[in-house]
Amino acid sequence: MAKKLWGGRFKQGLAESAIKLSYSLHIDKRLVSYDIAVNTAHAKALQKANIFTKEECQQVCTCLSELNDGFIKNEAELLGADEDIHSCIERLVTERLGDLGKRLHTGKSRNDQVITDTRLFIKDQSSFAMSQLTELNNVLCELADEHKDVIFPGFTHFQPALPVLFSHHILAYIEKFKRDISRFEHTFEMADVCALGSGAMAGNNYGLDRDFVAKELGFSGITQNSMDAVSDRDFILEYLFSASVVMTHLSRFCEEIVVWNSPIIGFVNLGDDFTTGSSIMPQKKNPDMAELIRGKSGRVLGNLVALQQTLKGLPLTYNRDLQEDKEMMFDTADTLSHCLDCFTEMMQGLTLNKEAIHAALSKGYLLATDFADYLVKQGVPFRDSHEITGKAVLYAMEQNKQLEELSLEEFKSFSGKVESSVYDALTLEAAVNAKDLVGGTAKQQVHAQITKCKAEFN
Ligand code: ARG
Repeated sequence: MAKKLWGGRFKQGLAESAIKLSYSLHIDKRLVSYDIAVNTAHAKALQKANIFTKEECQQVCTCLSELNDGFIKNEAELLGADEDIHSCIERLVTERLGDLGKRLHTGKSRNDQVITDTRLFIKDQSSFAMSQLTELNNVLCELADEHKDVIFPGFTHFQPALPVLFSHHILAYIEKFKRDISRFEHTFEMADVCALGSGAMAGNNYGLDRDFVAKELGFSGITQNSMDAVSDRDFILEYLFSASVVMTHLSRFCEEIVVWNSPIIGFVNLGDDFTTGSSIMPQKKNPDMAELIRGKSGRVLGNLVALQQTLKGLPLTYNRDLQEDKEMMFDTADTLSHCLDCFTEMMQGLTLNKEAIHAALSKGYLLATDFADYLVKQGVPFRDSHEITGKAVLYAMEQNKQLEELSLEEFKSFSGKVESSVYDALTLEAAVNAKDLVGGTAKQQVHAQITKCKAEFN
């Protein structure tokens, strides 16, 4: 058993069950490089405050840097039966430097240390998520560009609604992922404040130069209240929220891909490398990766809810409950990065089945609204044109015809305002290109959006 950091006032050691419940090294060892960076910056601050001599600071920094290399090479050699990663690093430095190691903890607490480590972790994860989302948008831009003029059924209520460009559909997700990138930018900013110097909860007695420490660690600023600093986990909540919104977007997209990939609909084919077979039904090619990403969105949202639930009953300042933040944060970071990786690669291999898409365009009277709009252009008030169109659709259904297959006489029986120009309006191309305003699905609008996105994400 490693010597504890706080044994002095105790007659008895911790019960085995209490150790099992509370020791977190197996989880927070993941923060080791951050913890070493924080210790290094603190050692330099101790030198600035004349608590360490230059040589002592040098010795500690060299030792920490060697430990960092050691952890990269073989962490198992260095990990002991320590309570957490902070205790572990302190033990290792003390084993190597004796009293000098013991003096390293002057003016800091694990409370300000753990949250500073965590802030560094969240900053890195936010940057990483932004780079993965940028890569995903890059791949989606390519997909949109490759199929930029393919007309696709647009749905509301999963009922055929209006024809759109397939690329417009893909660009819709690009917009969502663009907002996700902004959310992570904000998350990064929230995390980008150094808490070291807050001590256990009230500050420290050594007048350590907090701005210097922040700069050493690459933070843009410092926290302004020690009690808030050691109790604040808002930036983790924000990270978990940002991640859960990405997962929600991925999940919705995956739901569409699962549906599109079903042989019943057959709009897309997923690569063999992102689908699986059945152990009993030889014909199957299942979209398991899309399903798993959809499924994993649940646990990422769960992590957000779990941490917020943990936080809501806590008085100021540090409470051990806060240690629970890490499992949720690590699980979300891993799940998010695996899902983004896999989804991005899966989308690179997605192919379209243009015949199936084309066949679907003749189902569900996608041109009905454009007939109503045609009547409006012919001078019929929209409410009336809506009513007339509804009747015409019902009639066409009974005749087993598309709307554009009705004869001029048939059209005229619904409204005298219909002329032969109706046939120019009632094509898929005309319907798409009529939506010619920013945000609309007309070819030239969508092409312009693709060009903009390519400039942004390539
Ligand atoms: N391992 C703790 C955590 O992750 C940090 C240590 C603070 N512990 C304490 N008893 N004050 O939150």
